[in-house]
Amino acid sequence: MTSRTGRHFLQIPGPTNVPDQVLRAMAAPTIDHRGPEFAALTTRLLAEIKPVFGTAGPVVIYPASGTGAWEAALVNTLSPGDRVLSFETGHFATLWQDMARALGLDVDFVPGDWRHGADPAELALRLDADTTHSIKAVCVVHNETSTGVTSRIAEIRQVLDDTDHPALLLVDTISSLGSIDYRHDEWGVDVTVAGSQKGLMLPPGLSFNAVSDKALEASRTARLAKSFWDWAPVIEANRSGAFPYTPATNLLYGLAEALDMLAAEGLPQVHARHARHAAATRAAVRGWGLEVLCADEREHSGSLTAVLMPDGHDADKVRRVILDQYDMSLGAGLGRLTGRIFRIGHLGHFNDLTLAGTLAGVQMGLEIAEVPVDPAGLGAALDVLRAS
Ligand SMILES: Cc1ncc(COP(=O)(O)O)c(C=O)c1O
Repeated sequence: MTSRTGRHFLQIPGPTNVPDQVLRAMAAPTIDHRGPEFAALTTRLLAEIKPVFGTAGPVVIYPASGTGAWEAALVNTLSPGDRVLSFETGHFATLWQDMARALGLDVDFVPGDWRHGADPAELALRLDADTTHSIKAVCVVHNETSTGVTSRIAEIRQVLDDTDHPALLLVDTISSLGSIDYRHDEWGVDVTVAGSQKGLMLPPGLSFNAVSDKALEASRTARLAKSFWDWAPVIEANRSGAFPYTPATNLLYGLAEALDMLAAEGLPQVHARHARHAAATRAAVRGWGLEVLCADEREHSGSLTAVLMPDGHDADKVRRVILDQYDMSLGAGLGRLTGRIFRIGHLGHFNDLTLAGTLAGVQMGLEIAEVPVDPAGLGAALDVLRAS
């Protein structure tokens, strides 16, 4: 085995680096999940997590990865055969619609080129045409982790309002929550799906549904089969600080610490920090003479940047070189982007020098892999960091 010194650079777009204080918090002894100390922790967490979603409503926490929270959003609100509209923004939007079909929903999947977000104009056309209101839900991935493109949820909401369409709005914020500005209540989102392992700076293993009144109302008549994912018993047990099953106690200790960190920095500052690191990363990519995958200036992701390889160069070879030489993991191209892009994660527990080190490693790796790049790229990123 190769000997390594220093810390591994985990610069994939999640799971992200877990802060030491969060790791220490999780190392505390597990307590009785039916006792008073745990009830106090749950009650505190359920209150303190609301501002991160921008909601005053309930947030359901599951001991599951994000995929579980996707399923929960669908099975709690919809019935067999319901029509759902979703947008092919990339790999994760594709997986979510695959799941919806597998659950017995009738999905209209709006095709996309994996370089743009969900198109509000296309949504307007589809909703206008749906005069009988047969579409029961619109599903959008806020930040498509496979492409580094962020859909404009406020504009999507505006289209639902302008067309006076009653469909529920379900939004996946797995790689945006705690990194990119997000407002569940203000944007009229009905179910927000989130996960622990990205902006929330925790290991994988927790996921979330923030739930609007309209979604709660829908859940009373929704007929898709559900048991473990059913919101009702969780919300009921949460009233006394409990869960209807054994919760992931130590991950919840970590969550308490991570929420304290986000609150201490202030959410607007957290979002601004991510946007600034994303801008510096784009400056590096363009300085190298390479192309950012996201094709719309309004939709650049604050949490990751996907870099397109010039023709004839393999992104996975670049990632391999960087892992071997510099002990840094970068995100792979997924699905149809395999080998064509690599993804730089700049989210979560992250600062200027983490970014500088990351971009230095990428630049050196590109050079070793003989991808023609201008070494001025790194300097261009440092200029952005210095100037702001
Ligand atoms: C946007 C998005 N949605 C859904 C998922 C699936 O979540 P999980 O892998 O935690 O089940 C991911 C995972 O990276 C994601 O990035």
